[in-house]
Amino acid sequence: MKSANDRREGDVEYEFGIPIPGRILPEDQWARTALKKLPPEGPIDWAQVFGRTAPLILDIGCGNGRFTLASAIRRPEFDHVGIDILPVVIRYATRRANQRGLWNVRFAVCGGHEFLDRYIAPHSVQEIHVYHPQPYKDPRKQHKRLLSPEFLALVFRSLFPDGLFVLQTDNAAYWRYVRPLMDKFFNFHDQEGPWPDMPEGRTRREIYARLKGLPVFRGYGTPRTDLSDTQAMELAKQLPPPVFSAAEKADPLAVAGRPRRSTARSFRQKRAEKWRKRRNS
Ligand SMILES: C[S@@+](CC[C@H](N)C(=O)[O-])C[C@H]1O[C@@H](n2cnc3c(N)ncnc32)[C@H](O)[C@@H]1O
Repeated sequence: MKSANDRREGDVEYEFGIPIPGRILPEDQWARTALKKLPPEGPIDWAQVFGRTAPLILDIGCGNGRFTLASAIRRPEFDHVGIDILPVVIRYATRRANQRGLWNVRFAVCGGHEFLDRYIAPHSVQEIHVYHPQPYKDPRKQHKRLLSPEFLALVFRSLFPDGLFVLQTDNAAYWRYVRPLMDKFFNFHDQEGPWPDMPEGRTRREIYARLKGLPVFRGYGTPRTDLSDTQAMELAKQLPPPVFSAAEKADPLAVAGRPRRSTARSFRQKRAEKWRKRRNS
């Protein structure tokens, strides 16, 4: 298999057998999508960064950037910024966006909370997407969880009044914690099943989770109109912090909000048969 560095013009790349959107262009058409150094102070003037005025989409904790790439190709009239706290994933994302000539994309290394707090002007963003935030199963690391009431208040503050917040996770405990909070800040709806624009999965983690048979919890919403920024910040202080056990064993048969069905036994039986067959072959 080719490494990311051996890719050639015209190549389509795959991840878990599913193509990564776009094709590698001739080198003279590559873009420069890395935001290498963020200023000490914000907010950032995105019109200056992109050289045009266009509605802005953020992908927070973007990982290898699959959603951002796909959305930027499908919606060239929007500017996209993907951020992640981990430099190595941003290097992958940046290389792919560069090779696809995506001038409407930038990637930066930054924490999600700091990014919204420091670099995003109030009510200046059209869409904010968070896919599969790290659940941090180790209780010693739970303070690192992104989805806190304060973070949701920052999302609320960053979005235009008709802006869109999209959230999904495959961690049932994280969803149980965050789902009631979503209604406090947003007119929030559950999305049943995969997103129609990317039925095989919007992100690497979604594709992986589905291959593993994990349930995926999805939802979207617009900021509540009966809440001001100050009220949202005050409300955040009264809501519970993200302190819960995320380490429960994932139940591949559990579907959001529904009890386990009695097919559990037949699932186990099928799996046992599979193993027996494999052993005997
Ligand atoms: C499970 S991965 C999901 C990546 C991608 N969104 C996907 O669905 O494939 C979680 C990502 O969140 C990043 N992350 C963790 N804490 C973060 C934070 N505070 N701010 C921004 N990114 C964070 C991790 O580095 C990791 O890339």
